[in-house]
Amino acid sequence: MESSKNKPLNKIPPARLEVEQMTPYSAPLEGRRDLLRLDFNENTIGPSPKVLNAIKKITSEQISIYPEYLGLQKAVVNNLNSPYFVSLLKPNQIGLFNGVDSAIHSIFYAYGDRNKQYLTTLPTFGYYKPCASMQGMKAIEISYEGSDFKFPLQAIRNSLIKLKPTILIICNPNNPTGTTLSATKILELAHLSPKTLVVVDELYEAFLGDSVLPVVDFRKTPNLVVLRSLSKTSGLAGLRIGFAIGHPGVIDRITRVTGPYDINSFAVTAAFAALTDQEYVDNYVAEVLQARIWIQKRLCANKVRHHMDAGNYFLLWPTHQSHNDVETSLKSAGILVRNMKNKPLIHGSLRVSIGTTLQMKSFWETYKNVDKFKALN
Ligand SMILES: Cc1ncc(COP(=O)(O)O)c(C=O)c1O
Repeated sequence: MESSKNKPLNKIPPARLEVEQMTPYSAPLEGRRDLLRLDFNENTIGPSPKVLNAIKKITSEQISIYPEYLGLQKAVVNNLNSPYFVSLLKPNQIGLFNGVDSAIHSIFYAYGDRNKQYLTTLPTFGYYKPCASMQGMKAIEISYEGSDFKFPLQAIRNSLIKLKPTILIICNPNNPTGTTLSATKILELAHLSPKTLVVVDELYEAFLGDSVLPVVDFRKTPNLVVLRSLSKTSGLAGLRIGFAIGHPGVIDRITRVTGPYDINSFAVTAAFAALTDQEYVDNYVAEVLQARIWIQKRLCANKVRHHMDAGNYFLLWPTHQSHNDVETSLKSAGILVRNMKNKPLIHGSLRVSIGTTLQMKSFWETYKNVDKFKALN
């Protein structure tokens, strides 16, 4: 008989129940280089040359020691603050994270608890759910309304008043519908339930959004947290750096649950350089907004069903071919888009990121061929 000592280990130790039961976030992340990447809403032209120069100057000493963060919060504050803000931000109101993904994870880790509720909209960014599930939280997801995906304001108000959830998370503008909610309405929601942590994910705010930062006074609204990242506008998605902005006490709680050196030195160096070249970001955003007008004209003229609101992306329902076939054919032609299959309300659509006008021209030429229609222009 085989001794138990030699028996193969066919069972791994179980993780926490919530982890065993959760559906992890999955994204097709490999093999995207050298293609036209219109699938993840990243900056499509890369970071400012100042970022590359700063990275080239990194020394061996800097690589061999643990990262230093001194001055980075101040640099974020200098980049964000404007004389029109109701109250000016201080460095201890900025939490530094290994991408906003990590900030979201930390928020749920610090505030989310078993059987507590979190409120959000549907469909929205896919990483909130796994973060909530790993804490054993219950989701209350309220659908966007109508054919133009309006923000379900009254339903969110009612749920806030009735349920007083632990967390409300609003993606503003929403990924993937582009829906926006005005800053004053967000403040109103935060005041309706002061014990609810209201998280406003402003990743796409630069592209026609309406930031809550100019109107919020975190001393009066300490339950509000704003998320910003250098992935989508500054072109640092590969280095992973993002920020949570809010009341110093809340930022302290959220950063308590991270490791001491979660952000690496390359990201820190790149962030310093990117934050001092706002002109580069402003020019990129202006270029995307031009490209948006260009592609929208073609879609409208050719009666292609689409939905374009805020953000650097739009939803597209192919006319003659299935969304799956169009996605595959675009990929074969070197263009990546994100398939929204099985997403509530928008199944059948593709989400297309907006890059430069040249990139949108290239997308349009290929799209016309793969969806097999004769375009007017
Ligand atoms: C709405 C939203 N929030 C957060 C993230 C994650 O951003 P980061 O690259 O800073 O982790 C994304 C990325 O796609 C996003 O779309």
